[in-house]
Amino acid sequence: MSESQVSSILQGGYHHPLSRQWQAERQLTKAPNSPQSALVYPLFITDNPDEESLVASLPGQYRRGVNKIVPFLEPLVKLGLRSVILFGVPLAPTAKDPTGSQASAQDGPVVQGIKIIKKAFPQMFVMADVCLCEYTSHGHCGILNEDGTLHQELSCQRMAEISVDYARAGADAVAPSDMNDGRILAIKTGLMKAGIAHKTMLISYAAKFSGSLYGPFRDAAGSAPSFGDRKCYQLPPSARGLARRAIQRDLREGADGIMVKPAGWFLDIVSDAKEIAKDVPISCYQVSGEFAMIHAAAEKGVFDLKQAALESLEGMMRAGANTILTYFCEQILKEGWLDQ
Ligand code: PBG
Ligand code: ZN
Repeated sequence: MSESQVSSILQGGYHHPLSRQWQAERQLTKAPNSPQSALVYPLFITDNPDEESLVASLPGQYRRGVNKIVPFLEPLVKLGLRSVILFGVPLAPTAKDPTGSQASAQDGPVVQGIKIIKKAFPQMFVMADVCLCEYTSHGHCGILNEDGTLHQELSCQRMAEISVDYARAGADAVAPSDMNDGRILAIKTGLMKAGIAHKTMLISYAAKFSGSLYGPFRDAAGSAPSFGDRKCYQLPPSARGLARRAIQRDLREGADGIMVKPAGWFLDIVSDAKEIAKDVPISCYQVSGEFAMIHAAAEKGVFDLKQAALESLEGMMRAGANTILTYFCEQILKEGWLDQ
């Protein structure tokens, strides 16, 4: 399938009431830009159904098994939570191998999680992060060549298979975070062949930078690479030009949304994304390290937690975000941080 063919599918980006709202440049609602509808809560789902364990480096955040997810989400949905993004955390010793074959297992945490959440909350916009690092024995975000670099074709093919499996399970969006070149075209083509491209939003982590801010996530997900690092596939932090090219490329390959990650240190890139990709929703990911850092500083008395957290999110909205992925969702909703 060619790039011109994949860009003919627009429906994937507006099949759900919430993704339709994200398409608006200005919103005529009581709350301008309706911050509540911008929030996406990242959730870690383990393969142990009854587990509920605190992630030490992510204040107040838990890894939960499928039996614990719905009771946890119930009060948040009542308070206005409308979207989540799921990350699988396979703990079983057999769950990891060189090709990440368990990533979309039917009895695995993500497929089960999607089904359980969509059943309990049919209106919820469920995103599934798509990557291999949680499921590979080497911890890298794809299938490897003998020299330890990513095998582009095999990795993209695998990413497409996983995306189709998640979409078939009921995910409203798939969000590939692996950074293999060509994955968006492969995934879009896979979704089209499976006949589900019109009801699956493809959100590309197009501008994803390597760096120090993913540590707590890798603790939570057990996804640190066993050798080397991710510098040859995640972007160098100084690279504004590469980010702009990645955004342009992923749009041509059929992305319905563009993500910038981490968000806080890369607000110039968010504003670039808003300019380059002005016709699709822009997502900001306030990553684990940003969240942990704000908590740590507040604990030291540097500033007030709520005030600093809201300022950090305000900056993202100002730079051009339509949606924000943040671990602050629970506290924002439960403590009514957005209520006037
Ligand atoms: C998997 C993935 C990562 C994050 C989201 N998806 C980790 C990584 O790339 O190492 C980071 C999110 C966070 O730090 O909160 N590829
Ligand atoms: Zn990964």
